[in-house]
Amino acid sequence: MRILGYCAIAPFALAMTSCTLDRDKWDPDQLAHGKYVAVDESLARGRASYNDYCAGCHGEKGDGEGPAAKFLKPKPRDFRKGKVKFASVAAGEMPTDDDLIRTIQRGLHGTSMPSWRLLPKDEILDIIQYVKTFTPNRKAPGGMIAIPADPWLKAPEKGVAEGEKLYHGLANCNSCHPAYVEKPKMVEHMKAFDMPLSGFREKPYDSETKDSEWGEAITPPDFLSDYIKSGTAKEDLVRVIATGVGGTAMPSWGATLTPKQLWGLAYYVEHLASLRGTKKAQDMRKALLEQPPYTPPPPPPPPPPPETTADPSASASASAAPSSSASAAPTTSATAAPK
Ligand code: HEC
Ligand code: HEC
Repeated sequence: MRILGYCAIAPFALAMTSCTLDRDKWDPDQLAHGKYVAVDESLARGRASYNDYCAGCHGEKGDGEGPAAKFLKPKPRDFRKGKVKFASVAAGEMPTDDDLIRTIQRGLHGTSMPSWRLLPKDEILDIIQYVKTFTPNRKAPGGMIAIPADPWLKAPEKGVAEGEKLYHGLANCNSCHPAYVEKPKMVEHMKAFDMPLSGFREKPYDSETKDSEWGEAITPPDFLSDYIKSGTAKEDLVRVIATGVGGTAMPSWGATLTPKQLWGLAYYVEHLASLRGTKKAQDMRKALLEQPPYTPPPPPPPPPPPETTADPSASASASAAPSSSASAAPTTSATAAPK
């Protein structure tokens, strides 16, 4: 910091000498206006506010091990990792400042992460600058995933119907989240996308708990009964579906589904979430659990053997049918097993 100060005071005398590298971190405006001092002050203010408001959970060192942490599930974020769950970039990439501001101002529903709506925005910005110092070798934020305009505004019911079909068909969201339609309907939705049925999960109407990079397994929400952490407005849902949830099994769908499909899913999830805690949700779940036994149709006969096996490339392309894990092959950031 001292050296930077020097550069700023005598930029011409020292130009192109040893401070060039340091100066690269600062844009000319910041140097000209001596903002480096403000940055120092901002960090000091951020540190004080952080210790007042955040350290009890996130820990003085930002490691997520504050005194309250052992009582909390999910655990407070470990800021040393740099990445977060909810952002406008693909899951697992560095979040933008706006992403952090949104989370801090709104909190995460259904977790102990409170809303800090009443803190002045300047104070939040100071805290964010300080929080970033916990991450060694911090990378630049990832590219934002563009979310185009809502195409279903004039036909919301069609959006919900499209979402239901994709959820149980092409995207197979119910491989982790619960299904919300009866089994024959699930088969119908898969058929609509020419997807082979490899059977149902043992408990298709419950969530399937998945490993995460956050040191604990995470159960995907059941939208009829659980909170959605990052918001239940369609705009929030389309973002989290497109970007995924960093460090968890929840994939980024932005690159594999069309905007129309992403919004359809947001409409469908919003519809389900709007029933949360109502009698209608209870009745729906009861009916699904008590549906009559159902035997799925037998798989179609295997295709006739290829005429020649001499050319391996030919047979490889012939078997380019969807793999057993089928679905739109989204990208997930949860690569490493916990611990
Ligand atoms: C009462 C405990 C508690 C306090 C106080 C708290 N947090 Fe959190 N925070 C959490 C928990 C728990 C999570 C993780 C939620 C999850 O994993 O779903 C979290 C997550 C976060 C995240 C990451 C969100 C993401 O997308 O991964 C940020 C950023 C954050 N908190 C910032 C702050 C800041 C800044 C403060 C102080 C102004 C603060 N928190 C105070 C409990 C707390
Ligand atoms: C491979 C497993 C998996 C698949 C497939 C999957 N999800 Fe998720 N999803 C998760 C997990 C795990 C979470 C919980 C993340 C957390 O709270 O930390 C989650 C969370 C969510 C959330 C809540 C986000 C929040 O703010 O709390 C929504 C909405 C969601 N998923 C929608 C979908 C939709 C729509 C699909 C299909 C297009 C889908 N998911 C497919 C695992 C999955």
